[in-house]
Amino acid sequence: MYSRRQILKGSLYGMGAAAVGSGIPLTSELMASTPRTDFVAQHISHKLGTNDVETKNMYSFGPTIPPTIRMKRGEEFHGRLINNLEEPTTIHWHGFRLPNNMDGVAYLTQPYVYMGDSFDYNFVPHDAGTYWYHPHCNSLDQLSYGMTGMIIVEEDDDPGFDQDIPINLRDFRLGGDGQFIKLYQPRKTARAGTFGTMRTTNWMSEPTYEAQAGSLVRLRLCVTDVTRIYKLSLPKDGEAKVIAVDGHPCEPFPLRHFSIGPGQRADVALRVPDVEGTEIAITNYSSNNPWDVVKIKAKGQSVKRDLAEIGALPDNPVPRPDLSNAEYIPMEFSAAAEKAAVPNPICGGLGFKFWAINTSVWQKDGAGDPNEPIKVLKKNKSYVFEFINRTPHTHPIHIHGMTFQILKSNKREVAPWWTDTALVLPDEKMQVALKPDTEGDWLIHCHILEHQKSGMTAFMRVE
Ligand code: C2O
Ligand code: CU
Repeated sequence: MYSRRQILKGSLYGMGAAAVGSGIPLTSELMASTPRTDFVAQHISHKLGTNDVETKNMYSFGPTIPPTIRMKRGEEFHGRLINNLEEPTTIHWHGFRLPNNMDGVAYLTQPYVYMGDSFDYNFVPHDAGTYWYHPHCNSLDQLSYGMTGMIIVEEDDDPGFDQDIPINLRDFRLGGDGQFIKLYQPRKTARAGTFGTMRTTNWMSEPTYEAQAGSLVRLRLCVTDVTRIYKLSLPKDGEAKVIAVDGHPCEPFPLRHFSIGPGQRADVALRVPDVEGTEIAITNYSSNNPWDVVKIKAKGQSVKRDLAEIGALPDNPVPRPDLSNAEYIPMEFSAAAEKAAVPNPICGGLGFKFWAINTSVWQKDGAGDPNEPIKVLKKNKSYVFEFINRTPHTHPIHIHGMTFQILKSNKREVAPWWTDTALVLPDEKMQVALKPDTEGDWLIHCHILEHQKSGMTAFMRVE
């Protein structure tokens, strides 16, 4: 038998191909209990947005837009990644608390899944809500070319909506001919990041969904874009409230200029207008030309439901940190001192480094020894992290495998949300608390992928 480290090394040096491709061994009981979902990584062509030409060389997890996966809280999920791309890939389950060897970070938590190979992901989702999945290998390319899909983890008891609409928000970087252009411009990587050119919602432009008049709809907004921070609003007179943020229930609030960046989610409970044909739109105001990311159109006779019929969503069983006994750890996000990097690591590199966490610049996308955590944490111990943003840009800071609570900020009022990805504003100092409950090596990185890939990545070891 190979140990996990040996399997990783085997993949690094090209040894032990059989062990690399066969994945983590499964118990037969696990396999037998629920059906398996296959994710077939592949190249496809698709007409995006308003284009009437097919965009070629898209990447997906199936023949069209990556499927929205439904899981049941507390029930084992079995997924198989089958790699039909022409490069290695993996799947990361964004926002999940799961065993470290299921986290999908190539090189750190599992071997690369090579072309023609497969890998089985088996885990139990502990928390209900809206999540997503994406590769964690050559991520800037693979996500930019399409590999971002949504996950719904159902609550134990149906909260009572009439309709549930996943809203996958992202851009694609296309030229006038509808084909991909260079994914980033280094001078933008060193700033807020490079934006796409084609704005999409579920790979369409400003789609309209019909819903029964007077019914209750749950809109699950998920920003899977690699760069864009949205600022979303519903009209003032719209009957709606945000009921969960980043998967976890929150004190409800109206959707008004709500900033939501790469990796983040918001669940909106919306009452469809009573009059047939009436439309209600969610509009993005983060750009000079606001646009409607989605419209809901009332159809038929009003069923006269009331938002009050939806009770509070049940809390997720996230480990609660003990603030009176927490260790304080500063985490500084800054520009990098050194700019050079290895140009072509297996999991994709940009060839330069602009960013750092606690002055450490990530060099480890397959081109070095990944074995130095920036922090070693103790399982079941409580921590307060201070995210210190030393840059003039906003960074959506994501931690793998742990859910943290926002405590306070030096710049604004914050709500005590539970999250896996927090937007840290320019010059902001934000304190968050967490209690790690699973051993292993867990990434912390900015979810603006150009920042992630040009240094703003590190990992913490929980032991
Ligand atoms: Cu969406 Cu490293 O994560
Ligand atoms: Cu960033």
